[in-house]
Order: sequence, then C-alpha cells, then structure tokens
Amino acid sequence: PVPRDLAGRRILVTSGPTHEPIDPVRYIANRSSGKQGHAVAAALAARGAEVVLVSGPVQEADPPGVRVIPVESARDMLAACEAALPVDAAVFTAAVADWRVESAAGQKIKKSGAPPVLALAENPDILATISHHAQRPRLVVGFAAETENVVEAARAKRQRKGCDWIVANDVSPATGTFGGGQNEVHLISDAGDEHWPKADKAAIAARLAARIAAALQPPAAP
Ligand code: C5P
Repeated sequence: PVPRDLAGRRILVTSGPTHEPIDPVRYIANRSSGKQGHAVAAALAARGAEVVLVSGPVQEADPPGVRVIPVESARDMLAACEAALPVDAAVFTAAVADWRVESAAGQKIKKSGAPPVLALAENPDILATISHHAQRPRLVVGFAAETENVVEAARAKRQRKGCDWIVANDVSPATGTFGGGQNEVHLISDAGDEHWPKADKAAIAARLAARIAAALQPPAAP
C-alpha cells in the first residue's frame, strides 16, 4: 500500500495538449494524450495530496480524488495555474502550444480566394512563469519532450526555465511515447541525471510521486 505521506500538501499538475483557436470551429493542437499528466495527478492523490489538475482537452477520465480544471488554450492554462497558487509543489506535464494564432477570427473563415495566412504569436511559458512567481512553489517540476540529445537539452532547459527538476523523455516517433502507455525518462536535478528504465506511465508517475513526497518532507529536527 502507498503511504499517505502527501496528506496536507497541495499540488498543482498540468496535463494534456492545449488547443489554440484559429476561428470558432478550428484549432491548432498537438499529439499529447494527457496519459502521463493524469497518471501523475492520480499518483499524488493516492499519497494523500490535495491535487489541482489543470488539463487541456483529453480523452482521459478524471483521476479519482482530484479536482480537475478543464482549459483549452495556453493562456487559459496559465490563468488557471496562477489561480491555483499557493501550492507546495507543481508538476508541469502539459504539452503547451508554443504559439497561438495572433488574432483568431470571430467567425468561421470562408474558403474563398487565396488560403488564409495565419500569423502566430508566442504563448506564455507557464513553467517559467510559475518558477519565477512571487508565490513560487517549494518544488517545481517540468517535463521535457525531446527527440535528440535528451539529457543535454533537458539540463539546459532546467536552467533556462528556473525549475528544480526536469523529467526528460524521448518522444521520437519510434518510441511510441505520445499516446502510448509507457515512458522511459531521465530525472534531471541539481544532484545530476538519473535514468528510469521503460515502464508504464503509472509506474513512472508513482516513482515521481514518491520522490516528490521525499522532497517535501520537513528536514529532520537537529
Ligand atoms: O520548452 P518545452 O516546451 O520543451 O518545455 C517543456 C516544459 O515546459 C513542460 O514542463 C511544459 O509543461 C512546460 N511548458 C509550459 N508552458 C509553455 C511551454 C512549455 O509550461 N508555453
């Protein structure tokens, strides 16, 4: 049985893709399934944490015992995350769209004449924003989906974003990570790089939840 060692802790998790509207019926999205993020939320809740799961549009069922806040765009996701503060820890599993359509059309764009040209604008970086927030959680964990130089890229990302840990995974199509049931990751922290061999996303989530519980334990009295 898992210990209830996160009882009394409040933890924010993001999951899924974001949808960036083009017009009222079309959007830009990505292949994130939300499986890993939802598994992380479930694993933290199983250890007794009060979990707020801010999720983009996914097929996954709401994990038991978790408060789910459904969002669509990156900007909605950031607003929901900021509204969830303060928290003891935050885990950013979502595959947030890097760009949105600069000005989404108010009406469905008609097929007439030349195809439309979509001007893109950069989305806010939610992980970096919360890592530098006045109410920064004690522990901030990012994910990094890479297709090459996984560990080096993740180390640089950890520095750049200002988070404590990065869980890095290889999402090359051959790995089947996106939408698949399994994941193989590296945990990058200031202590170095730890390789976690291929396992079910639920097992990776359970291992991460155990590490988070250990990191949030108050230091032993002298
Ligand atoms: O830069 P990259 O998208 O690879 O970084 C991945 C990490 O940053 C993930 O933890 C993801 O949830 C987070 N992220 C974010 N907001 C963005 C882009 C990424 O929170 N706009």
